[in-house]
Amino acid sequence: MMKTIGVLTSGGDAPGMNAAVRAVVRTAASLGMTVKGIRRGYNGLIEGDIIDLDIRSVSDIIHRGGTVLYTARSPRFKTEEGMAEAIANCKRFGIEGIAVIGGDGSYRGARDLSLRGIPCVGIPGTIDNDISSTQYTIGFDTAMNTAMEMVDKIRDTAQSHDRCSVVEVMGRRAGYIALQTGIAVGATAILVPEVEVKIDDVIQKIRDTQKTGKKHFIVVVAEGIGGVEDIAKKIEESTGIETRATVLGHVQRGGSPTVRDRVMATQMGYAAVELLNKGIGNRVICYRDGKIVNEDIYEALNMKKPFDDDMYNIAHVTSI
Ligand code: ADP
Ligand code: F6P
Repeated sequence: MMKTIGVLTSGGDAPGMNAAVRAVVRTAASLGMTVKGIRRGYNGLIEGDIIDLDIRSVSDIIHRGGTVLYTARSPRFKTEEGMAEAIANCKRFGIEGIAVIGGDGSYRGARDLSLRGIPCVGIPGTIDNDISSTQYTIGFDTAMNTAMEMVDKIRDTAQSHDRCSVVEVMGRRAGYIALQTGIAVGATAILVPEVEVKIDDVIQKIRDTQKTGKKHFIVVVAEGIGGVEDIAKKIEESTGIETRATVLGHVQRGGSPTVRDRVMATQMGYAAVELLNKGIGNRVICYRDGKIVNEDIYEALNMKKPFDDDMYNIAHVTSI
């Protein structure tokens, strides 16, 4: 049985990561294990930036965005020298297993550590919901709610001026945030990397809805498509409708996590520690069809995530 485990957050921060850290610490304590907090992702493991976490040290964080453990992208961790330092520090601090909260990149690091004798369990934490093995990632709901609120505000001014607003939301190469946010704000068109749509089709749709009395328009564009300024220019030139472009940016990464993110993070943190407590690593925690399950990390990294074409179609049909 493991006596001491580590926990770290890695890659882009996501609201709900703190709730996951709290769940890891408290579940471990309830099983008689102690927890070390590794700061700034894999950098903390390399540099020995490691602190003790007891049940009270994670009080008052469940409602806070960001991550109290800080996060980083660590190119050094991908080198042999960095990995050797990381393993040496695990030994030095008595860390026998690690809960890694992050995205696919962080999972690859977790796989490498597991291979070198430090069992790791991945917990999906990213606003993008772009991890193939899970239907849900911690932070997705909060980010979408933030994006929705921001676009609602943009809609107020678009409506007042009879304008079109083209809004870019985050998601790296994936369109999950764009799709659901687009539905929630009643966007006339949603552009995502997973579905090929021509700008002329968007313009045609704007014209069609204009004929039935629509006077202001929202077009939601995923970051993976980008180019909102150009899209706005083309819409304005073709339709004569005054058009503005907005990139929402990092506002989507911050803020207090929603109920869904806090609860999911708590369940996932708990599940990760249950595995580590049994000495099991090389796994990732997943949400599938209402259940928290786990999956082999290699299988997880090789999976392809299907895009919800039905939902995309519903968005199209209901935005006339
Ligand atoms: P995310 O976890 O959100 O996908 P990144 O892709 O930036 O974020 O990965 C986070 C960190 O995980 C990287 O900075 C690096 O330290 C580690 N990592 C990423 N890819 C690999 C890899 N192929 N092998 C080992 N470690 C990796
Ligand atoms: O993965 C989360 C995310 O916010 C993506 O949506 C975005 O592409 C990227 O991180 C931005 O990263 P950075 O922190 O480097 O600006």
